[in-house]
Amino acid sequence: MVKKLLSVLGGEAVSPPPVWLMRQAGRYLPEYRALRANAKDFVAFCLNPEQATEVTLQPVRRFGLDAAILFADILLVPHALGQKLWFAEGEGPRLEPVRARAAISGLHYDSARLEPVMQTIRNVRAAMAADARMADATLIGFAGAPWTVASYMIEGKGGTDHETIRALAWKEPESFALLMDILVDATSRYLIAQGDAGAEALQLFESWAGTVPAGLFEVAVLKPTARIVANVKAAHPGLPVIGFPRAAGSWLARYAAETGIDGVGVDQMTDIGAIMLDNPKIALQGNLDPVLLLAGGDAMRGEAARIVESMRGRPFIFNLGHGVMQPTPPEHVADLIAAIRTT
Ligand code: CP3
Repeated sequence: MVKKLLSVLGGEAVSPPPVWLMRQAGRYLPEYRALRANAKDFVAFCLNPEQATEVTLQPVRRFGLDAAILFADILLVPHALGQKLWFAEGEGPRLEPVRARAAISGLHYDSARLEPVMQTIRNVRAAMAADARMADATLIGFAGAPWTVASYMIEGKGGTDHETIRALAWKEPESFALLMDILVDATSRYLIAQGDAGAEALQLFESWAGTVPAGLFEVAVLKPTARIVANVKAAHPGLPVIGFPRAAGSWLARYAAETGIDGVGVDQMTDIGAIMLDNPKIALQGNLDPVLLLAGGDAMRGEAARIVESMRGRPFIFNLGHGVMQPTPPEHVADLIAAIRTT
């Protein structure tokens, strides 16, 4: 039997659609908070295969989701490139910014630093195969896409308008191109290693596609993404890749047509049922507003049903338009999945 999520990424319509949620593992789950409380340092937590395996499996076990997403973080790639990374409690990620050409040239990818992630993947696959409740779930590996990762590397934190990286990309195109090359190479190697270890699908998070000026979209998003997908496919021809260019707006069609991805993640601002791609085999994934999952109840169920209905007959994976919000009651996730399974 082909797993549901993989059928959809192969271009088939499946009803009811498979479902997983971005940030399905995390602080809204009490069992996550219990494990996280013992690990002060978030990077060490991600790089502990026993803990990362357990946290990856927690939501799959609890809710019977159609996919597990590897527990890790997009900022592990800058960490493996030698950039100093830490998570300030309650404030999010902090990195020692790389801004000068010399700092960019000094980045070198050390794959050994991410070897624990590969062990997590092997552990998760073994645990899922051995448990009847999870045997049909697909393990999704992931990485951040170059623009999104570079924005943290250059800004040094989240929550800015990305003025520093935009200025660098416009004023020092060669330095920016060098950083994109370094990230294409590191991200390709990281994702290929995830495929070697047993990831069954991959997602590239372009969470900050919405801050890319139009005149830079090709060099910052389309081309680097296409190069990564081509590298991954050269090593693993059958491994599907989902791209999530959040807030890409009018760029979505070109993103789907030019990057080689098998599925596109769609944010909650976009009318998913109205998206018409040249290639109807490309799966769409999304796009419930995370605020509705937080709210729960009939409003959530009604909107979920409307989304499923608007995608009927097309290859579709149910998800949110962005990650699960921290105060979300876990019961709402169970309600949502039950509602989707009866559509
Ligand atoms: O369940 C899953 O989705 C798997 C694990 C996962 C995490 N981060 C764990 C995490 C995934 C896929 C990510 C991706 C990620 N990380 C993105 C892209 C997706 C998105 O949300 O747009 C980004 C931009 C990051 C960078 C990052 N990591 C930020 C901005 C933060 C701080 C914000 C926050 O929610 O705390 C993190 C930390 C982080 N990554 C946490 C988790 C569970 C919380 C850390 C904690 O437990 O203290």
